[in-house]
Amino acid sequence: MLQMLEPLPADPILGLSAACHADPNPDKVDLTVGIYKNEKGECPVFAAVQEAQQSLVNEETSKAYLAAAGDGAFNQGIQKLVLGDGSGALADGRVTSIQTPGGCGALRIGAEIVHAAAPNAKVWVSDPTWPVHGPLLGSVGLEFRSYRYYDYATHGVNFDAMVSDLAGAQAGDIVLLHGCCHNPCGADLSLEQWRVIAELAERQGFTPFVDFAYQGMGVGLDEDAAGLRLLVSRLPEVIVASSCSKNLGLYRERTGAAVFVCADAANARAVLSQAQSAARRVYSMPPAHGALLAGRVFNDDVLGALWREELSAVCERINGLRSSLRHALESRCGGNFAFIETEKGMFSFLGLSAEQAQRLRNDYSVYMLDSSRINVAGVNAGNLDYIAEAVSGVL
Ligand SMILES: Cc1ncc(COP(=O)(O)O)c(C=O)c1O
Repeated sequence: MLQMLEPLPADPILGLSAACHADPNPDKVDLTVGIYKNEKGECPVFAAVQEAQQSLVNEETSKAYLAAAGDGAFNQGIQKLVLGDGSGALADGRVTSIQTPGGCGALRIGAEIVHAAAPNAKVWVSDPTWPVHGPLLGSVGLEFRSYRYYDYATHGVNFDAMVSDLAGAQAGDIVLLHGCCHNPCGADLSLEQWRVIAELAERQGFTPFVDFAYQGMGVGLDEDAAGLRLLVSRLPEVIVASSCSKNLGLYRERTGAAVFVCADAANARAVLSQAQSAARRVYSMPPAHGALLAGRVFNDDVLGALWREELSAVCERINGLRSSLRHALESRCGGNFAFIETEKGMFSFLGLSAEQAQRLRNDYSVYMLDSSRINVAGVNAGNLDYIAEAVSGVL
Protein backbone atom coordinates (compact mmCIF):
# COMPACT_ATOMS: atom_id res chain seq x y z
CA MET A 1 0.00 0.00 0.00
CA LEU A 2 2.74 2.46 0.89
CA GLN A 3 4.34 1.75 -2.47
CA MET A 4 1.52 3.73 -4.06
CA LEU A 5 3.09 6.93 -2.73
CA GLU A 6 5.35 9.16 -4.78
CA PRO A 7 7.78 11.65 -3.19
CA LEU A 8 6.47 15.21 -2.96
CA PRO A 9 8.46 18.28 -4.01
CA ALA A 10 10.41 19.93 -1.16
CA ASP A 11 8.58 22.55 0.91
CA PRO A 12 9.28 25.83 -0.92
CA ILE A 13 10.73 27.58 2.16
CA LEU A 14 12.42 24.66 3.95
CA GLY A 15 13.77 23.33 0.63
CA LEU A 16 15.59 26.61 -0.05
CA SER A 17 17.00 26.72 3.45
CA ALA A 18 18.32 23.16 2.97
CA ALA A 19 19.87 24.19 -0.37
CA CYS A 20 21.60 27.11 1.38
CA HIS A 21 22.84 24.76 4.09
CA ALA A 22 24.41 22.52 1.45
CA ASP A 23 25.97 25.44 -0.50
CA PRO A 24 29.79 25.40 0.01
CA ASN A 25 30.18 29.17 -0.72
CA PRO A 26 31.63 30.72 2.49
CA ASP A 27 29.82 34.00 1.69
CA LYS A 28 26.38 32.37 1.47
CA VAL A 29 23.48 34.15 3.18
CA ASP A 30 20.27 32.48 4.32
CA LEU A 31 17.34 34.92 4.27
CA THR A 32 14.70 32.19 3.93
CA VAL A 33 13.15 30.63 7.05
CA GLY A 34 11.50 32.89 9.65
CA ILE A 35 13.69 32.40 12.68
CA TYR A 36 15.34 35.22 14.57
CA LYS A 37 19.13 35.22 14.27
CA ASN A 38 21.55 37.31 16.32
CA GLU A 39 24.64 39.13 15.03
CA LYS A 40 26.53 35.80 14.93
CA GLY A 41 23.81 34.26 12.79
CA GLU A 42 22.63 32.06 15.68
CA CYS A 43 19.09 31.55 16.95
CA PRO A 44 19.74 32.03 20.68
CA VAL A 45 17.88 30.83 23.79
CA PHE A 46 16.56 33.80 25.81
CA ALA A 47 18.38 34.12 29.18
CA ALA A 48 14.99 34.25 30.97
CA VAL A 49 14.03 30.96 29.29
CA GLN A 50 17.40 29.42 30.25
CA GLU A 51 16.79 30.37 33.88
CA ALA A 52 13.25 29.04 33.84
CA GLN A 53 14.57 25.83 32.31
CA GLN A 54 17.20 25.43 34.99
CA SER A 55 14.66 25.77 37.77
CA LEU A 56 12.24 23.47 35.97
CA VAL A 57 14.91 20.77 35.64
CA ASN A 58 15.60 21.06 39.38
CA GLU A 59 11.98 21.02 40.41
CA GLU A 60 10.09 18.86 37.93
CA THR A 61 8.91 15.65 39.54
CA SER A 62 6.66 14.15 36.89
CA LYS A 63 6.30 13.72 33.17
CA ALA A 64 2.64 12.74 33.38
CA TYR A 65 0.37 14.16 30.64
CA LEU A 66 -0.82 17.70 30.92
CA ALA A 67 -4.57 18.16 30.60
CA ALA A 68 -5.89 18.52 27.05
CA ALA A 69 -6.26 22.28 27.70
CA GLY A 70 -2.61 22.42 28.75
CA ASP A 71 -0.96 24.15 31.68
CA GLY A 72 -3.15 26.53 33.72
CA ALA A 73 -0.39 29.05 34.53
CA PHE A 74 0.57 29.17 30.86
CA ASN A 75 -3.02 29.71 29.73
CA GLN A 76 -3.57 32.51 32.22
CA GLY A 77 -0.28 34.15 31.27
CA ILE A 78 -0.89 33.98 27.53
CA GLN A 79 -4.44 35.37 27.84
CA LYS A 80 -3.06 38.41 29.69
CA LEU A 81 -0.16 38.79 27.30
CA VAL A 82 -2.44 38.78 24.26
CA LEU A 83 -5.40 40.75 25.62
CA GLY A 84 -3.65 42.98 28.18
CA ASP A 85 -4.01 43.10 31.96
CA GLY A 86 -6.92 45.51 31.82
CA SER A 87 -8.98 43.56 29.27
CA GLY A 88 -12.73 43.89 29.88
CA ALA A 89 -13.35 40.55 28.15
CA LEU A 90 -10.95 38.86 30.60
CA ALA A 91 -12.61 40.55 33.58
CA ASP A 92 -16.02 39.40 32.29
CA GLY A 93 -14.79 35.79 32.22
CA ARG A 94 -15.68 35.42 28.54
CA VAL A 95 -12.19 34.37 27.43
CA THR A 96 -10.89 30.83 27.24
CA SER A 97 -7.79 29.28 25.74
CA ILE A 98 -6.16 25.98 25.03
CA GLN A 99 -2.44 25.37 24.92
CA THR A 100 -1.43 24.09 21.50
CA PRO A 101 1.64 22.75 19.70
CA GLY A 102 2.86 26.15 18.46
CA GLY A 103 0.91 28.78 16.57
CA CYS A 104 0.26 26.16 13.89
CA GLY A 105 -1.58 24.01 16.42
CA ALA A 106 -3.58 27.07 17.47
CA LEU A 107 -4.55 27.83 13.87
CA ARG A 108 -5.63 24.24 13.44
CA ILE A 109 -7.66 24.07 16.66
CA GLY A 110 -9.22 27.44 15.81
CA ALA A 111 -10.18 26.06 12.40
CA GLU A 112 -11.64 22.92 13.99
CA ILE A 113 -13.81 25.08 16.25
CA VAL A 114 -14.96 27.26 13.36
CA HIS A 115 -15.81 24.16 11.35
CA ALA A 116 -17.73 22.65 14.29
CA ALA A 117 -19.73 25.87 14.72
CA ALA A 118 -20.22 26.74 11.05
CA PRO A 119 -19.20 23.98 8.59
CA ASN A 120 -19.96 26.23 5.62
CA ALA A 121 -17.90 29.15 6.91
CA LYS A 122 -15.60 30.75 4.39
CA VAL A 123 -12.17 31.85 5.55
CA TRP A 124 -11.04 35.14 4.05
CA VAL A 125 -7.25 35.33 3.80
CA SER A 126 -5.01 38.19 2.74
CA ASP A 127 -3.32 38.14 -0.65
CA PRO A 128 -0.54 37.36 -0.08
CA THR A 129 -0.50 35.31 3.09
CA TRP A 130 1.71 32.74 4.80
CA PRO A 131 1.52 29.66 2.55
CA VAL A 132 0.89 27.29 5.47
CA HIS A 133 -2.50 28.92 6.18
CA GLY A 134 -4.00 27.02 3.24
CA PRO A 135 -3.18 23.48 4.38
CA LEU A 136 -3.59 24.23 8.10
CA LEU A 137 -7.09 25.65 7.86
CA GLY A 138 -8.13 24.04 4.59
CA SER A 139 -7.56 20.46 5.71
CA VAL A 140 -10.37 20.91 8.23
CA GLY A 141 -12.69 21.41 5.28
CA LEU A 142 -13.11 25.17 5.33
CA GLU A 143 -13.48 27.04 2.08
CA PHE A 144 -11.24 30.00 1.23
CA ARG A 145 -11.75 33.45 -0.22
CA SER A 146 -8.99 35.97 -0.58
CA TYR A 147 -8.94 39.70 -0.05
CA ARG A 148 -6.44 42.05 -1.67
CA TYR A 149 -3.91 43.29 0.87
CA TYR A 150 -0.41 44.15 -0.34
CA ASP A 151 0.24 46.55 -3.17
CA TYR A 152 3.55 45.55 -4.76
CA ALA A 153 3.81 48.91 -6.54
CA THR A 154 3.53 51.10 -3.44
CA HIS A 155 4.98 48.52 -1.00
CA GLY A 156 2.06 49.22 1.32
CA VAL A 157 -1.39 47.96 2.27
CA ASN A 158 -4.04 48.55 -0.39
CA PHE A 159 -6.64 49.25 2.25
CA ASP A 160 -9.36 50.43 -0.13
CA ALA A 161 -9.11 47.14 -2.03
CA MET A 162 -9.10 45.18 1.24
CA VAL A 163 -12.26 46.90 2.45
CA SER A 164 -13.93 46.50 -0.90
CA ASP A 165 -13.16 42.74 -1.01
CA LEU A 166 -14.24 42.22 2.60
CA ALA A 167 -17.66 43.60 1.69
CA GLY A 168 -18.35 39.98 0.68
CA ALA A 169 -17.57 38.57 4.15
CA GLN A 170 -20.80 37.69 5.94
CA ALA A 171 -22.03 36.52 9.34
CA GLY A 172 -20.70 33.00 9.80
CA ASP A 173 -17.50 33.77 7.86
CA ILE A 174 -14.02 34.15 9.30
CA VAL A 175 -11.58 36.90 8.32
CA LEU A 176 -8.00 35.86 8.99
CA LEU A 177 -5.88 38.86 9.94
CA HIS A 178 -2.17 39.04 10.75
CA GLY A 179 -2.05 40.67 14.21
CA CYS A 180 1.29 42.33 13.48
CA CYS A 181 4.46 41.80 11.41
CA HIS A 182 2.56 40.49 8.38
CA ASN A 183 4.14 37.37 6.90
CA PRO A 184 5.23 37.66 4.09
CA CYS A 185 5.04 41.41 3.42
CA GLY A 186 5.78 43.20 6.73
CA ALA A 187 3.09 45.83 5.95
CA ASP A 188 0.73 46.18 8.93
CA LEU A 189 -2.60 47.91 9.38
CA SER A 190 -2.65 51.25 11.22
CA LEU A 191 -4.83 51.52 14.32
CA GLU A 192 -7.29 53.59 12.31
CA GLN A 193 -7.50 50.77 9.75
CA TRP A 194 -8.10 48.21 12.52
CA ARG A 195 -10.97 50.45 13.64
CA VAL A 196 -12.49 50.26 10.17
CA ILE A 197 -12.15 46.44 10.20
CA ALA A 198 -13.90 46.37 13.60
CA GLU A 199 -16.74 48.44 12.13
CA LEU A 200 -17.02 46.09 9.14
CA ALA A 201 -17.14 43.09 11.48
CA GLU A 202 -19.83 44.78 13.57
CA ARG A 203 -21.88 45.67 10.53
CA GLN A 204 -21.45 42.47 8.51
CA GLY A 205 -21.20 40.00 11.38
CA PHE A 206 -18.04 38.13 10.35
CA THR A 207 -15.64 36.85 13.03
CA PRO A 208 -12.00 37.98 13.04
CA PHE A 209 -9.42 35.22 13.45
CA VAL A 210 -6.12 36.87 14.30
CA ASP A 211 -2.90 35.02 13.57
CA PHE A 212 -0.60 36.45 16.23
CA ALA A 213 2.76 34.77 15.72
CA TYR A 214 5.02 37.81 16.17
CA GLN A 215 3.81 39.74 19.23
CA GLY A 216 6.71 41.87 20.46
CA MET A 217 8.77 41.61 17.28
CA GLY A 218 7.34 44.70 15.54
CA VAL A 219 7.20 47.64 17.95
CA GLY A 220 6.56 46.15 21.41
CA LEU A 221 4.35 43.61 23.20
CA ASP A 222 1.49 46.04 23.85
CA GLU A 223 1.88 48.15 20.72
CA ASP A 224 1.77 45.04 18.51
CA ALA A 225 -1.44 43.93 20.22
CA ALA A 226 -3.24 47.27 19.87
CA GLY A 227 -5.24 46.35 16.74
CA LEU A 228 -6.31 42.98 18.09
CA ARG A 229 -7.28 44.52 21.46
CA LEU A 230 -9.36 47.11 19.64
CA LEU A 231 -11.30 44.30 17.94
CA VAL A 232 -11.79 42.57 21.29
CA SER A 233 -13.06 45.79 22.90
CA ARG A 234 -15.77 46.13 20.24
CA LEU A 235 -16.80 42.65 19.16
CA PRO A 236 -18.50 39.75 20.92
CA GLU A 237 -16.24 37.11 19.35
CA VAL A 238 -12.60 37.06 18.29
CA ILE A 239 -10.32 34.05 17.82
CA VAL A 240 -6.55 34.39 18.26
CA ALA A 241 -3.76 31.98 17.36
CA SER A 242 -0.84 32.98 19.56
CA SER A 243 2.67 31.60 19.27
CA CYS A 244 5.66 31.64 21.65
CA SER A 245 8.00 30.41 18.92
CA LYS A 246 9.50 33.79 18.07
CA ASN A 247 8.91 36.06 21.06
CA LEU A 248 10.18 33.48 23.58
CA GLY A 249 12.42 31.67 21.11
CA LEU A 250 10.61 28.39 21.85
CA TYR A 251 10.38 27.28 18.21
CA ARG A 252 11.15 23.58 18.65
CA GLU A 253 9.25 23.31 21.92
CA ARG A 254 5.98 23.84 20.00
CA THR A 255 4.33 26.32 22.33
CA GLY A 256 1.24 28.34 21.47
CA ALA A 257 -2.38 28.90 22.37
CA ALA A 258 -5.74 29.24 20.69
CA VAL A 259 -7.49 32.05 22.56
CA PHE A 260 -11.25 32.43 22.17
CA VAL A 261 -13.04 35.62 23.15
CA CYS A 262 -16.67 34.55 23.42
CA ALA A 263 -20.00 36.30 23.86
CA ASP A 264 -20.27 35.27 27.53
CA ALA A 265 -18.75 33.00 30.17
CA ALA A 266 -21.15 30.10 29.51
CA ASN A 267 -20.22 30.12 25.84
CA ALA A 268 -16.51 30.26 26.75
CA ARG A 269 -16.97 27.01 28.74
CA ALA A 270 -18.71 25.37 25.76
CA VAL A 271 -15.94 26.48 23.39
CA LEU A 272 -13.25 25.15 25.72
CA SER A 273 -14.92 21.75 25.88
CA GLN A 274 -15.11 21.68 22.07
CA ALA A 275 -11.46 22.75 21.79
CA GLN A 276 -10.39 19.99 24.18
CA SER A 277 -12.30 17.47 22.14
CA ALA A 278 -10.71 18.79 18.92
CA ALA A 279 -7.24 18.51 20.48
CA ARG A 280 -8.02 14.94 21.54
CA ARG A 281 -8.89 14.09 17.93
CA VAL A 282 -5.84 15.76 16.41
CA TYR A 283 -2.88 15.24 18.80
CA SER A 284 -4.47 14.32 22.16
CA MET A 285 -2.29 16.28 24.63
CA PRO A 286 -0.02 19.27 24.09
CA PRO A 287 3.74 19.06 24.74
CA ALA A 288 4.63 20.33 28.23
CA HIS A 289 8.16 21.65 28.26
CA GLY A 290 7.83 24.95 26.38
CA ALA A 291 4.57 25.92 28.06
CA LEU A 292 5.99 25.21 31.52
CA LEU A 293 8.95 27.48 30.70
CA ALA A 294 6.71 30.22 29.29
CA GLY A 295 4.38 29.93 32.29
CA ARG A 296 7.32 30.46 34.62
CA VAL A 297 8.51 33.48 32.65
CA PHE A 298 5.01 35.03 32.50
CA ASN A 299 4.28 34.52 36.19
CA ASP A 300 7.62 35.46 37.76
CA ASP A 301 8.29 39.21 38.08
CA VAL A 302 12.07 38.92 37.77
CA LEU A 303 12.07 36.48 34.85
CA GLY A 304 9.24 38.38 33.20
CA ALA A 305 11.14 41.67 33.39
CA LEU A 306 14.32 40.04 32.05
CA TRP A 307 12.40 38.51 29.14
CA ARG A 308 10.70 41.82 28.26
CA GLU A 309 14.10 43.50 28.21
CA GLU A 310 15.60 40.80 26.00
CA LEU A 311 12.62 40.87 23.65
CA SER A 312 12.76 44.62 23.27
CA ALA A 313 16.47 44.34 22.41
CA VAL A 314 15.55 41.80 19.71
CA CYS A 315 12.85 44.11 18.37
CA GLU A 316 15.19 47.10 18.38
CA ARG A 317 17.84 45.10 16.58
CA ILE A 318 15.41 44.02 13.85
CA ASN A 319 14.34 47.63 13.35
CA GLY A 320 18.00 48.70 13.27
CA LEU A 321 18.72 46.06 10.62
CA ARG A 322 15.78 47.35 8.58
CA SER A 323 17.27 50.82 8.62
CA SER A 324 20.80 49.59 7.77
CA LEU A 325 19.51 47.42 4.93
CA ARG A 326 17.46 50.27 3.50
CA HIS A 327 20.48 52.58 3.45
CA ALA A 328 22.90 49.92 2.13
CA LEU A 329 20.52 49.11 -0.74
CA GLU A 330 19.86 52.75 -1.57
CA SER A 331 23.56 53.60 -1.66
CA ARG A 332 24.48 50.52 -3.76
CA CYS A 333 21.47 50.27 -6.03
CA GLY A 334 19.90 53.75 -6.02
CA GLY A 335 16.12 53.75 -5.87
CA ASN A 336 13.88 54.01 -2.84
CA PHE A 337 13.94 51.25 -0.24
CA ALA A 338 12.30 53.32 2.52
CA PHE A 339 9.52 50.75 2.78
CA ILE A 340 11.98 48.29 4.38
CA GLU A 341 12.33 50.68 7.29
CA THR A 342 8.61 51.28 7.75
CA GLU A 343 7.54 47.64 7.48
CA LYS A 344 7.51 45.60 10.66
CA GLY A 345 8.78 42.28 11.95
CA MET A 346 11.10 39.86 10.23
CA PHE A 347 9.75 39.91 6.67
CA SER A 348 9.71 42.20 3.64
CA PHE A 349 9.54 41.72 -0.10
CA LEU A 350 12.57 43.31 -1.76
CA GLY A 351 10.53 43.88 -4.90
CA LEU A 352 12.64 41.62 -7.15
CA SER A 353 11.38 39.25 -9.82
CA ALA A 354 11.55 35.47 -9.37
CA GLU A 355 14.30 35.41 -11.99
CA GLN A 356 16.34 37.96 -10.03
CA ALA A 357 15.83 36.00 -6.79
CA GLN A 358 17.07 32.86 -8.57
CA ARG A 359 20.15 34.72 -9.89
CA LEU A 360 20.88 35.89 -6.35
CA ARG A 361 20.96 32.26 -5.30
CA ASN A 362 22.87 30.94 -8.27
CA ASP A 363 25.41 33.74 -8.73
CA TYR A 364 25.85 35.04 -5.17
CA SER A 365 24.57 32.30 -2.83
CA VAL A 366 22.11 34.83 -1.33
CA TYR A 367 18.99 32.78 -0.59
CA MET A 368 15.55 34.33 -0.48
CA LEU A 369 12.16 33.09 -1.67
CA ASP A 370 11.25 33.54 -5.36
CA SER A 371 8.78 36.19 -4.21
CA SER A 372 11.88 38.09 -2.90
CA ARG A 373 10.57 37.74 0.66
CA ILE A 374 13.52 38.08 3.00
CA ASN A 375 13.98 37.34 6.67
CA VAL A 376 15.49 40.64 7.79
CA ALA A 377 16.97 38.90 10.86
CA GLY A 378 19.26 36.95 8.50
CA VAL A 379 21.11 40.23 7.83
CA ASN A 380 24.07 41.19 10.04
CA ALA A 381 26.98 43.63 9.98
CA GLY A 382 29.16 40.96 8.34
CA ASN A 383 26.89 40.26 5.36
CA LEU A 384 25.05 43.57 4.89
CA ASP A 385 27.37 44.98 2.20
CA TYR A 386 27.57 41.65 0.41
CA ILE A 387 23.77 41.42 0.23
CA ALA A 388 23.50 44.99 -1.10
CA GLU A 389 26.23 44.30 -3.68
CA ALA A 390 24.50 41.08 -4.78
CA VAL A 391 21.11 42.82 -5.13
CA SER A 392 22.72 45.60 -7.13
CA GLY A 393 24.31 42.89 -9.32
CA VAL A 394 20.94 41.44 -10.33
CA LEU A 395 19.02 44.70 -10.66
C1 LIG B 1 2.21 33.87 9.96
C2 LIG B 1 2.57 32.75 10.87
N1 LIG B 1 1.61 32.18 11.59
C3 LIG B 1 1.86 31.18 12.44
C4 LIG B 1 3.14 30.70 12.60
C5 LIG B 1 3.25 29.59 13.58
O1 LIG B 1 4.44 29.21 14.01
P1 LIG B 1 4.68 28.08 15.09
O2 LIG B 1 3.75 26.97 14.85
O3 LIG B 1 6.10 27.72 14.87
O4 LIG B 1 4.45 28.70 16.44
C6 LIG B 1 4.18 31.25 11.84
C7 LIG B 1 5.54 30.74 11.92
O5 LIG B 1 6.40 30.94 11.13
C8 LIG B 1 3.88 32.31 10.97
O6 LIG B 1 4.83 32.90 10.23
